[in-house]
Amino acid sequence: MNTTQPYAGKLAVLYEGHGDDLASQQLAATLAVPFYQTVSPDTQEAFFLSWREGALKLIDRELLKKGGLAVDIEPRNGEQRSWPAPKQGALAQAIGRKTLTVVDATTGWGQDSLAIFRMGYEVQCIERSPVMAALLADGFNRLAQQNWLQNLQLQPPKLLAGNAIALLGALASRPDCIYLDPMFPPKRKKSALAKKSMRVLRDLLGDDDDKEQLFAAALNTARKRVVVKSPDYAPPLGGKPDVSFQGKLLRYDVYLLAE
Ligand SMILES: C[S@@+](CC[C@H](N)C(=O)[O-])C[C@H]1O[C@@H](n2cnc3c(N)ncnc32)[C@H](O)[C@@H]1O
Repeated sequence: MNTTQPYAGKLAVLYEGHGDDLASQQLAATLAVPFYQTVSPDTQEAFFLSWREGALKLIDRELLKKGGLAVDIEPRNGEQRSWPAPKQGALAQAIGRKTLTVVDATTGWGQDSLAIFRMGYEVQCIERSPVMAALLADGFNRLAQQNWLQNLQLQPPKLLAGNAIALLGALASRPDCIYLDPMFPPKRKKSALAKKSMRVLRDLLGDDDDKEQLFAAALNTARKRVVVKSPDYAPPLGGKPDVSFQGKLLRYDVYLLAE
């Protein structure tokens, strides 16, 4: 990846008449990507950011006519709609009942962060991709406007944009738990099983090749535990975990720390 212009030739901001065109132009300038009002067959970029239906969306060419992917702030299928949602299932077991504060150092689409937040943990999010950080900021703004959140006087998770390897050591206070879900290479080249949102993320960002450094930084910072979500075919990132919880086609490996 070109580190000075990571999205060169790949991504543009598209203004389709929704929302503020100045905000779209600013987003294009911040991300150092082109700003378009239409897409022609000659347009080389494969991904577009655009405000559609009240949300910032990442759109690939397949979804250009309609659709696009935004940070989904709704509870997942089967999740209880009360707050805090019950601490049930493999993710909750991995995070731990006695945990109060969690840093999600690989926030991505924010789906794990938001599930952890809805279970009543105090969550801080870190994301290094400026595109994902922009999508998350939009999602968390939408979340802040939800009635249930306002009625409970809750704030959405705090978002830090940058590399967690550097940011973890600079946190104001050490969290009980650091949660990691870096991108692992797929088992097969074209993984039909991967969700569309994760395939788009991989196409746009590639794999996270510095997972070991991130794990080391997490181990140095967390007070009680580091949780690594990994596909079931991948070896544990930090060697043998203290305990593992099995999810569907994935595992949560838990590394406990002596306080
Ligand atoms: C597989 S996705 C995470 C998906 C997320 N758990 C969810 O529920 O949507 C991995 C994300 O972690 C981010 N990431 C990987 N290494 C990072 C690091 N060192 N610092 C910050 N973000 C990182 C990537 O940019 C990517 O967006």
